[in-house]
Amino acid sequence: MLYYIVTYGCQMNVHESEKIAFILESKGYKPAQKREDADVIVFNTCAIREGAEDRVFGNVGALKKLKKQKPETIIAVCGCSTQKQSTATKIKQMFPFVDIIIGTFNLHKLGSYIDQAREKKVLELWQEGEIDEENSFLRSDKSNAWVNIMQGCNNFCSYCIVPYVRGREKSRSVDKILQEVKQIVSEGKYKKITLLGQNVNSYGKDLSPQVSFASLLRKISQIEGDFKISFMTSHPKDLTNELIDEIATNDKVEKSLHLPAQSGNNRILKLMNRSYTREKYLSLINKLRKKVPSITLSSDFIVGFPTETEQEFEDTLSLVKQVQFDSIFAFIYSPREGTVAAKMDGQIPLEIKRDRVNRLLKLEKQIQKEKHK
Ligand code: SAH
Ligand code: SF4
Ligand code: F3S
Repeated sequence: MLYYIVTYGCQMNVHESEKIAFILESKGYKPAQKREDADVIVFNTCAIREGAEDRVFGNVGALKKLKKQKPETIIAVCGCSTQKQSTATKIKQMFPFVDIIIGTFNLHKLGSYIDQAREKKVLELWQEGEIDEENSFLRSDKSNAWVNIMQGCNNFCSYCIVPYVRGREKSRSVDKILQEVKQIVSEGKYKKITLLGQNVNSYGKDLSPQVSFASLLRKISQIEGDFKISFMTSHPKDLTNELIDEIATNDKVEKSLHLPAQSGNNRILKLMNRSYTREKYLSLINKLRKKVPSITLSSDFIVGFPTETEQEFEDTLSLVKQVQFDSIFAFIYSPREGTVAAKMDGQIPLEIKRDRVNRLLKLEKQIQKEKHK
């Protein structure tokens, strides 16, 4: 009995696919080399941009023939995209041969859904879930181990679907995290531990007593062993002095930070509901560079947010020029159903968005070339 997992989206999904693999292997399945050989095929989906969703539809649709030839193959679709009722319904209607449709909150039940699916199709979405403390993963990377420290997001950036498909922020307890890291370190093969959350620097605000992310880093670093700690993603509004000091002084913490700015223009930042200004962002960068001179910095940007003018886009270019990031990700704004920005007037035509993203990426290349020189 063989399985095949197709993963879309961010590191969180990559890590959750490690859980899916563990669930399947404990049921006796072994990895297949290609999907045609598999008895169970799982699509772990992403909803962040339209393109990510389109790929899911294309790839699931392509299995129609396979399912006809091998009707006993179980096809499951899970993750952020199917967590949306509208997408789950659409998949059920368009691809009636899919056996299991679930979301993000009931992934840990996949094993029992596979048993059920032999009798009848499963479509089950939960609205919120407890953090799953069943920490068993089939880790896919040889030297880096992902550790989830929290789920969900409370920020509701106006363009973003994540709060709707991942629920509100829930932090795992310090004890459970330390236990997991100790276990990983004791295996001796992982040189890097990467802590995962949508907004890691608001870690612990929902715990009682409250715990800061900086203090979590401190506790993890006290575990004996030869490893580095990295983390993603950080939100500029929650990047505290305590955290900057911790990055600066803790030998186990990697001197690199991914700090998504999204835009360099204050009107757009406000419309995005990001809760910081260009000036605040730049002052954080200055502080970081002063305290951690060797730090490498990366960022995310969205171009063509509704109503963004040419001049406002140029503010993004000038921010990138000013900061001289080591690398950036640039995304074309993609309206997501149910978010505030999707309903805004002044949506930007695709050709303008394409032009802006190309110009931003060109600037990034120039900066990298200069740096390499
Ligand atoms: N929690 C993280 C990551 C969110 S998703 C954070 O807040 O930084 C990763 C990136 O996708 C975001 O930083 C943003 O740049 C981009 N993104 C999110 N929603 C988008 C949308 N609707 N259209 C285009 N890009 C989007
Ligand atoms: Fe989305 Fe904003 Fe939350 Fe990041 S912080 S996941 S961009 S809502
Ligand atoms: Fe995509 Fe979900 Fe991650 S929407 S970016 S897989 S949290």
